[in-house]
Amino acid sequence: MRVWLTGGTGFVGSNIVHAALAADHDVFTTTHSFTPPPRVGYGSDRVDMTDASAVSASVGQFNPDLVVHCAILNDFDRMYADRPGSWDAFVEATRHTASAAEDAGASFVLVSTDWVFDGTQGGADEETPPNPVNIYGVLKLASEMVALERGGAVARVSGVNGLHRARPDTPRHQDPGYGYFVASLVDAVRSGRKYRVWEAPNINMRATPSLAIQCGELILRIGAGRHTGIFHTCGADAVGRMELAHLACEVFDLDPAMVESGPVPPGQMLPAPVPYDTSLTTPRTAELLDHPPTPVRELLERFRDEYEAA
Ligand SMILES: NC(=O)c1ccc[n+]([C@@H]2O[C@H](COP(=O)([O-])OP(=O)(O)OC[C@H]3O[C@@H](n4cnc5c(N)ncnc54)[C@H](OP(=O)(O)O)[C@@H]3O)[C@@H](O)[C@H]2O)c1
Repeated sequence: MRVWLTGGTGFVGSNIVHAALAADHDVFTTTHSFTPPPRVGYGSDRVDMTDASAVSASVGQFNPDLVVHCAILNDFDRMYADRPGSWDAFVEATRHTASAAEDAGASFVLVSTDWVFDGTQGGADEETPPNPVNIYGVLKLASEMVALERGGAVARVSGVNGLHRARPDTPRHQDPGYGYFVASLVDAVRSGRKYRVWEAPNINMRATPSLAIQCGELILRIGAGRHTGIFHTCGADAVGRMELAHLACEVFDLDPAMVESGPVPPGQMLPAPVPYDTSLTTPRTAELLDHPPTPVRELLERFRDEYEAA
């Protein structure tokens, strides 16, 4: 398959690239501020996702079977400070990539998020109507609508953990969500530092973790099957933050006494409400992709193997 994607130098996107190369697909990614080193096994060029004609020209030139839109303006402050620019970066960029896919006769997958739910909808499945509580969720939901109305697919990833394949030195910090949680814990405890698990009523306290490389594999499977509609490309188990921390200690053979609970440090909250319980279920995804979701322990074991090998 020929796979063209946006954001292949980001955390999730670099895992889509990695999964596609492992499956012998031809890959091309747009780049933005970071340029990957030459000879990495895939094509890349600087293309701004908000530039409709540049996106169209790049897709037309590569002639893909699958277009994945994974790039994101990953900056909450900017989303609030520049609403029109953020609308362009999320919704219009989705329109540009979906149109380019349509013109090329390629299938289209938008990468989305569990934060389209409001935090009271724990166990949401692919049919549950979303109800976002912050601008990021609103922009992702509007982007989802564009993708679906263009006959594309939406792959919601959640609590993504794993290796950053393009920029392994990217700092890994805990945040009010679940992304990078396990890597930041393992990094801290292995270097002898206690890890304080943030616990508070106004952060994401329950989610269904995913492993980035498996998200990539499932997204490719959606594209290869030319599926449409909504998919939850996450693991099987909803867990709380402390539960995930203790499980990570077991799997990575870390002393659980190095993990403690604490409040969110000053200055670390997002400038917006955060959904509390964003756990997902996957009945449609499991059936259409013939993929029973993977237990969180197995995802962590796979991550440990990747982490040790890196
Ligand atoms: N990480 C998670 O836990 C998580 C959870 C739920 C959903 N998601 C979804 O996963 C997707 C990827 O997120 P991520 O965590 O991998 O983000 P990320 O690491 O910040 O990567 C974002 C990518 O988008 C690129 N980009 C930014 N602005 C661009 C522009 N104007 N034109 C072209 N490319 C641009 C960035 O390039 P530069 O860095 O070079 O600027 C980078 O490659 C998003 O759709 C997000 O909603 C992630």
